[in-house]
Amino acid sequence: MKIEHITSGKNKEEDAPLDNSLRPRYFNDFIGQSRIRGNLGIAIEAAKGRGEALDHILLYGPPGLGKTTLANIIAVEMGVSIRITSGPAIERTGDLAAILTNIRSQDILFIDEIHRLSRVVEEVLYPAMEDRALDIMIGKGPGAKSLRLNLPAFTLIGATTRFAQLSSPLRDRFGAIYRLDFYEPKEIEEILIRSAKILGVKAEIKGLREIARRSRGTPRVANRLLKRVRDYAQVKGEGIATKEMSMLALTKLEVDQMGLDEIDNKVLYTIIKKFNGGPVGVETIAASISEEADTIMDVYEPYLMQLGFLERTPRGRLATPQAYQHLGIPCNRERSPQQPLL
Ligand SMILES: Nc1ncnc2c1ncn2[C@@H]1O[C@H](COP(=O)(O)OP(=O)(O)OP(=O)(O)O)[C@@H](O)[C@H]1O
Ligand SMILES: [Mg+2]
Repeated sequence: MKIEHITSGKNKEEDAPLDNSLRPRYFNDFIGQSRIRGNLGIAIEAAKGRGEALDHILLYGPPGLGKTTLANIIAVEMGVSIRITSGPAIERTGDLAAILTNIRSQDILFIDEIHRLSRVVEEVLYPAMEDRALDIMIGKGPGAKSLRLNLPAFTLIGATTRFAQLSSPLRDRFGAIYRLDFYEPKEIEEILIRSAKILGVKAEIKGLREIARRSRGTPRVANRLLKRVRDYAQVKGEGIATKEMSMLALTKLEVDQMGLDEIDNKVLYTIIKKFNGGPVGVETIAASISEEADTIMDVYEPYLMQLGFLERTPRGRLATPQAYQHLGIPCNRERSPQQPLL
């Protein structure tokens, strides 16, 4: 079994009960992402005022930033039902047809991991999104006939961690596309205050601040670390998440001052030591540290890029001087002309 790291934003089984109890239900409890909240709030109010369905919405960004949460909030705020499925779960066109023919006007269909829809299913989705119509084939062979069914005005919300993998015809059919960004430490702190209250964790603000600083801007990671700190404080301390307890617990979990874990550091170290700072392809990095390229791309790279430790170039990944500094390795590599100045 592969051990997923504590700082991975990816959903893990241990998160399920936590995700549910901590997941904000309304915009009012949803902290941060104010631009998206503002735009969605207006779109929802306008659609409700006209008695219409919302435009199709695409939410993308690294795991654990709140895509599923937002989709559910949108349904609650619109006062409609939400039907939840995912790209890999819709295997055949018939599966999608069955869902769409059962949907009611203004309802929301949420497709998670929408980049994993098969080509044929995607093609059924195009007219459904654009013309709210379903084209079905009756019979087989030369006598087969195509029949067009009208669908109620529904809203599709798609979520993905891989915007680039979406085909452009699919992207073009979304009326609004929102990218979720990493949260500011202050916002994560607020999320932690809320979570500590819900979970009944006794915490000092400085303790929560320490957790926030090392949560890589990701609410799911923050909530997970809070739980670990609580356990640590209960066993080793007085049951209070103080600054000291948080620091000790996080150090024990091998989460460093910047929220980087062993795998982040391995990625940087590999690029620098084995490939002279890059550029090097992500598959090569993955193979040399025995990780999956997908996990590196979804979970590790976005945050390393956000910190300015890593760059994606057409020729591969490049470690920046800040990355050398972070690892305490002198950077005396010569710059090739294609490499941007940092
Ligand atoms: N803005 C927020 N305010 C408070 N808590 C949040 C916020 N966003 C996310 N969370 C918390 O983080 C958890 C993970 O969020 P969510 O499941 O929506 O992420 P996601 O983007 O759908 O991730 P994935 O890509 O893995 O599906 C939620 O259960 C919730 O507790
Ligand atoms: Mg999700």
